[in-house]
Amino acid sequence: MRVQVHLGERSYPIEIGHGLIGNAALLGPYIAGQQVAVVTNSTVAPLYLERLQQSFPDRCVVDVFVLDDGEQYKTLESYTAILDFLMQHRHNRSTTLVALGGGVVGDITGFVAATFQRGVNYIQIPTTLLAQVDSSVGGKTAVNHPRGKNMIGAFYQPVCVIADMDTLATLAEREFVAGLAEIYKYGVIWDAKFFDWLEDHVVDLRAKDAKVLQRAVQTSCEIKARVVAEDEREQGLRAILNYGHTFGHALETVTEYKQLLHGEAVAIGMVLAADCSERHGLIASGDAARIERALSAAGLPTRLPRGVGASAMFDAMGMDKKVVDGKLRLVLAERIGSVKIVDAVNTSAVLQTLGNER
Ligand code: NAD
Ligand code: GLY
Repeated sequence: MRVQVHLGERSYPIEIGHGLIGNAALLGPYIAGQQVAVVTNSTVAPLYLERLQQSFPDRCVVDVFVLDDGEQYKTLESYTAILDFLMQHRHNRSTTLVALGGGVVGDITGFVAATFQRGVNYIQIPTTLLAQVDSSVGGKTAVNHPRGKNMIGAFYQPVCVIADMDTLATLAEREFVAGLAEIYKYGVIWDAKFFDWLEDHVVDLRAKDAKVLQRAVQTSCEIKARVVAEDEREQGLRAILNYGHTFGHALETVTEYKQLLHGEAVAIGMVLAADCSERHGLIASGDAARIERALSAAGLPTRLPRGVGASAMFDAMGMDKKVVDGKLRLVLAERIGSVKIVDAVNTSAVLQTLGNER
């Protein structure tokens, strides 16, 4: 099944299904020249690289760069190492880069593609649930700076995204559940009926029922594609995709990226954002509680870990990219299925949310 991202001449498809990595007919049309460089990591390579290599056209010379596994390698050093590799193997402007892996591999490969020889084509082959429903779609590419996550990057769209659902079979359960957080996010920000459906199908979703999971991924990609098509460079609307993320990123910072996966931090962030929305007179308390129940039923954490203080969180939120001209902006929920960007955030309400003074 196919979801299209409509961006004029930079439009591209998201192919979602089973057995896609070994499908040469699918991949072939997106390889323009004769040179291909696959970027993957040491965990994903043994699982899917061989299958992928069999699906490139015969004319292609395929080089492979294997990153060490982990967010700590999403750095300028790794970026430079990939560039060195491309230069060493004499890649050129008609090279196609292929990102095979989760969000880390996708983000760094996208950034290399954006900048190598002023931009070359790249294909996203996301192998985590989070990458399939979020990071591989929309063209945000980046590496981290020691002082901030995703601080160096570019908007640069892939030529296609190939989400092979079969890859989720090898994903660690905790990573899978973390990816569910972003799926629920689409229900909260855009589609109340989708949220209802997720609540109704949580057991099948957690059991990785093929049909249910595929529909969840497809609907998530459709929503993300619509938002990105309207606001590719986050001048306005696209910021709604960050619902829960300002709290979530702060939590990742405060816990030094050691305690929580991104999706887990986002789940807690979504609950905090709902609480904060209620304190701003927006979402009804019943709906805020429903968001927490749904995320909890999905197996996600919903409360700040012990020892994480309100003031440390508040300070960390001030470091987020969503701070504009020194003012904290937040995406807050009006109800399930609708959010808005609030510039005049009431800071004492934020502190109450963080202190959990219910
Ligand atoms: P990840 O890339 O670190 O992958 C998680 C773990 O799963 C890794 O250990 C990886 O090796 C392993 N893995 C990947 N696929 C596997 C498979 N099929 N089977 C077994 N193991 C597998 O993390 P992630 O959650 O995919 O992505 C997080 C990253 O994405 C962060 O760097 C975040 O900043 C970024 N992100 C980017 C965007 C965007 O719009 N560009 C959006 C959200 C998140
Ligand atoms: N993950 C948020 C965005 O793509 O804008």
